Amino acid sequence: MSDEGQGMHIAVYPGSFDPITNGHLDVIERARHLFGRLIVAVAVDAGKQHLFDVAERVAMAQEACRDMPQVQVDSFEGLVVEYARSRGAVAIVKGLRAVSDFEREMQMAMMNRCLAPELHTVFLVAHTEYTFLSSSLVKEVARLGGDIEDLVPAVVCRCLREKYGIPQL
Ligand code: PNS
Repeated sequence: MSDEGQGMHIAVYPGSFDPITNGHLDVIERARHLFGRLIVAVAVDAGKQHLFDVAERVAMAQEACRDMPQVQVDSFEGLVVEYARSRGAVAIVKGLRAVSDFEREMQMAMMNRCLAPELHTVFLVAHTEYTFLSSSLVKEVARLGGDIEDLVPAVVCRCLREKYGIPQL
């Protein structure tokens, strides 16, 4: 698989991205080169309470990926496998940070395989720098006035400060 020409495959990277973090960007950076074309698919409803609505989550991800020509950001509702099929994807990409992610991710991968046997789930192991990083922790630290500048793209930093009424730097 490569960036160009005939070897190009489409992969879907689904998630809540509430908000997108540098950990997600690390996965995106590697997956876009592996597959040649990557769709970052923001789940409208991932069964969670979101801080940012789907339009905000998509806009932040778009801004964060704007210099990555192989990456498109979209939103989806319903089953991820149906969405991936509709986009002609061969794979669903997920990031793994630690063993604690593994059980849930494995369960989802097996369910997705049961629903769509032709789709591969590909796990990319997070960079050690990001194993502790999650959108929930970033939100908590930001809400309490902590410094998150090194953990998220600049656009997310701005949006989190705005959301929590913290003055911009
Ligand atoms: O970032 P998250 O919250 O871990 O992402 C979870 C997500 C959106 C990937 C997952 O909830 C999902 O795939 N939702 C779509 C609905 C679906 O297909 N559910 C069955 C998955 S086995």
